[in-house]
Amino acid sequence: MVTVFGSCNMDLVAYVATPPRRGETVHGRAFSTVPGGKGANQAIAAARAEVGTRFLGAVGDDEFGGRIRATLAEAGVETTGLRTVEGHSGTAHIVVDDDGGNSIIVVGGANDVMDRLHPGDAEAIAASDCLLLQLETPLRGASAAAEVAAAHGVRVVLTPAPAEPVPESLLSNVDLLVPNEHEAAVLTGESDPERALPALLDSVPEVAVTMGGEGVLYGNRSGERVRMPAFPVRAVDTTAAGDTFVGVLAAELARGTDTTEALRHGSGAAALSIQRKGASGSMPSREDIREFLEDSGS
Ligand code: RIB
Repeated sequence: MVTVFGSCNMDLVAYVATPPRRGETVHGRAFSTVPGGKGANQAIAAARAEVGTRFLGAVGDDEFGGRIRATLAEAGVETTGLRTVEGHSGTAHIVVDDDGGNSIIVVGGANDVMDRLHPGDAEAIAASDCLLLQLETPLRGASAAAEVAAAHGVRVVLTPAPAEPVPESLLSNVDLLVPNEHEAAVLTGESDPERALPALLDSVPEVAVTMGGEGVLYGNRSGERVRMPAFPVRAVDTTAAGDTFVGVLAAELARGTDTTEALRHGSGAAALSIQRKGASGSMPSREDIREFLEDSGS
């Protein structure tokens, strides 16, 4: 069982040729509202990879909250730990350009109540194989979740996004850290992932640095290193590619797949997700991933 403790948002997405500069107004090509949030995306990716997945988070008592809950449930995510609180759901204000790149503003809303464990959360975490955390909910809640997981021998995977310094008290309970190259630079001061990796391994036993079109760099304290190139595909929308990678990686690790193969599944899933628009709608099924990896001959 994979448990995700973290954020869920309604993504308000504008597609534009070129994002506006400060003080500028530009015409957009299209607009859509899509359930997202780093935590919910990871949960949906893991559930579509056909591993039991539960989500611990919060939505507001607004229309967005109902849609986010329904999307998670439709994907097969167990949502008894998704509480509804008074006020608005988290929102992400996203601009996607013609190259598929994006910029995102996240407004926490209901996610902010995840600054602690709620009734039932500790038991759910303790009964899991793997706990996934991100930093869109308050650090205090993520730290409490990691502490419970560590005490019960549950593998903790942290995506340190949005980028911010992570206290040692949280890192000391993390087994696998999955930053992108920018987040790795924020944590270490090293912009080169090859140099950031050993610095990160001083704090956590395993690290996978995602590098967009450059692929992924994995290392652990036993000295194992894997550099896996990205699959060459044309990006339509890179939103949630990292979440898809982590969700599928965790699902494969939870079912006992070896690390290199799990990284390959995560990379394949991310490559499929960037060819589709939107966050939750872009995650592939296990069958899609299997076919893609077979067709790409790897
Ligand atoms: O990682 C992508 C996600 O970041 C989006 O779905 C958005 O909600 C923001 O949280």
